[in-house]
Amino acid sequence: MILITGATGNLGKATLEFLLKKVPASSVAAMARQPEKLADVKALGVDVRQGDYTDPASLLNAFKGIDTLFLVSSSDMTDRAAQHINAFDAAKQSGVKHIVFTSFQRKQDSGSPIQFLAQSYIDTEKHLKASGVTYTILKNGLYADALPMFLGQTVLETGIFFPAGTTKSAYTSRKDMAEAAANVLAGTGHENKEYELATEENVSFNDIASILSELSGKTVGYVDPAKEVFIDALTKGGVPEGMIGMATGFAEAIRIGEFASGKTDLERLLGHSPTRMKESLRIMFFSH
Ligand SMILES: NC(=O)c1ccc[n+]([C@@H]2O[C@H](COP(=O)([O-])OP(=O)(O)OC[C@H]3O[C@@H](n4cnc5c(N)ncnc54)[C@H](OP(=O)(O)O)[C@@H]3O)[C@@H](O)[C@H]2O)c1
Repeated sequence: MILITGATGNLGKATLEFLLKKVPASSVAAMARQPEKLADVKALGVDVRQGDYTDPASLLNAFKGIDTLFLVSSSDMTDRAAQHINAFDAAKQSGVKHIVFTSFQRKQDSGSPIQFLAQSYIDTEKHLKASGVTYTILKNGLYADALPMFLGQTVLETGIFFPAGTTKSAYTSRKDMAEAAANVLAGTGHENKEYELATEENVSFNDIASILSELSGKTVGYVDPAKEVFIDALTKGGVPEGMIGMATGFAEAIRIGEFASGKTDLERLLGHSPTRMKESLRIMFFSH
């Protein structure tokens, strides 16, 4: 039995959908903090279980009889690693044989502008490897799907204002991350492996502006402001301090090439070419 956590979220739900195309629903379980949110999934024959990463007893209950655990990383900003570790400990105690964890692509393990986030993944991976349970670590690249957060919903009218320089990054489609994960879960030969899930296509914010211009038929510019100017503008716009820290951290990480990528495992795991940036932008900004 394979259990998918985060099944109410974007990645978990999409992974579940891909997995159900490959294995019978009777061999799949899905975990949610509020199981009633998964009524549609339950109707398909999936075993829906309640569990919360902050509640070890609920995890022990949720992981009963599970062979393979797909752990979607927590969206919590404060104690992410502790929550993952709770899940790994409960999985080990429950006799889970294989843990597939969604981690985070990175170039360096220290000194990153987003160390506040990266550290939780470094600590989590370390704990998982030391647990003795068979693992697969999926180092998911930066989601193209997260770009609207940096570009703003009015980008087609206002242009891009983001201090990320002209460095190229390998953005991924969350749908591709889900399909690759489902292939790993349904497949064999992934024991104790770490995969880089990024694209060979690398694009800069200049490239993103050009693609948006092409898709919209009007000029979308890119302004790369000084960090202080960016912080000042967001502060005056009433953006909360935490969000500003997150945006400037990611901008700096992009600027120093933290998400640039060469060869990756994504295409092989997918069995087809990854989604290109033009298609991701078309879906996000032009399909409604
Ligand atoms: N690589 C990237 O660029 C990138 C970008 C954004 C996020 N991420 C990471 O990727 C993960 C998946 O992305 P996503 O888009 O699917 O996020 P999402 O839609 O926010 O989903 C997060 C999922 O985690 C569950 N969750 C949160 N806290 C939990 C807890 N304490 N116990 C059990 N489940 C909990 C949520 O359940 P509820 O329905 O109960 O809230 C939800 O199902 C995120 O959680 C984050 O760690 C990566």
